[in-house]
Amino acid sequence: MLGKYNFLRALLVLRDSTSDNMRILVTGGAGFIGSHLVERLLAAGHTVAILDDFNDFYDPQIKRANIAGFVKDVIVHHVDLQDGASVRNLFHREKFEVIAHLAARAGVRPSIQHPQLYYDTNVIGTLHLLEAARLCLFRKMNI
Ligand SMILES: NC(=O)c1ccc[n+]([C@@H]2O[C@H](COP(=O)([O-])OP(=O)(O)OC[C@H]3O[C@@H](n4cnc5c(N)ncnc54)[C@H](O)[C@@H]3O)[C@@H](O)[C@H]2O)c1
Repeated sequence: MLGKYNFLRALLVLRDSTSDNMRILVTGGAGFIGSHLVERLLAAGHTVAILDDFNDFYDPQIKRANIAGFVKDVIVHHVDLQDGASVRNLFHREKFEVIAHLAARAGVRPSIQHPQLYYDTNVIGTLHLLEAARLCLFRKMNI
């Protein structure tokens, strides 16, 4: 998973390695930033999958519109990061080489009204992703 600095570095690496087709999972790929990243990755020749729960933090139709232009070119996994078993199942079924983790509850003001939801998504959800990657990806890569 990528912090802001490493995320930018990863984008530079991806830009400079367009000949290598990588299998990339973009969490939050239907969101504002994620959908733009997916477009760029597809244009660079990568194979992209999206993990998103299309929740109603804002109108889910906007998220559907975000991905409408490339939905035929990606696999969309409707998975809630809060559901650890579903995240693990996905990683057992699919093999990803890169994860760009952009799924989040992002608004500051609602985080004050719903702190548990933000914790469950942004902290526990990220932990579920890290654990699935550790158990399913890195072990496979070491074989
Ligand atoms: N938009 C900005 O200007 C901005 C600036 C700095 C940082 N960021 C950060 O970038 C990230 C993405 O922001 P954004 O603007 O694209 O937000 P967004 O709300 O448009 O996208 C987030 C996506 O994550 C998905 N998601 C949320 N909870 C989920 C869950 N439990 N399981 C699966 N999917 C889930 C949502 O459905 C949505 O599609 C956030 O971490 C945000 O804090 C955004």
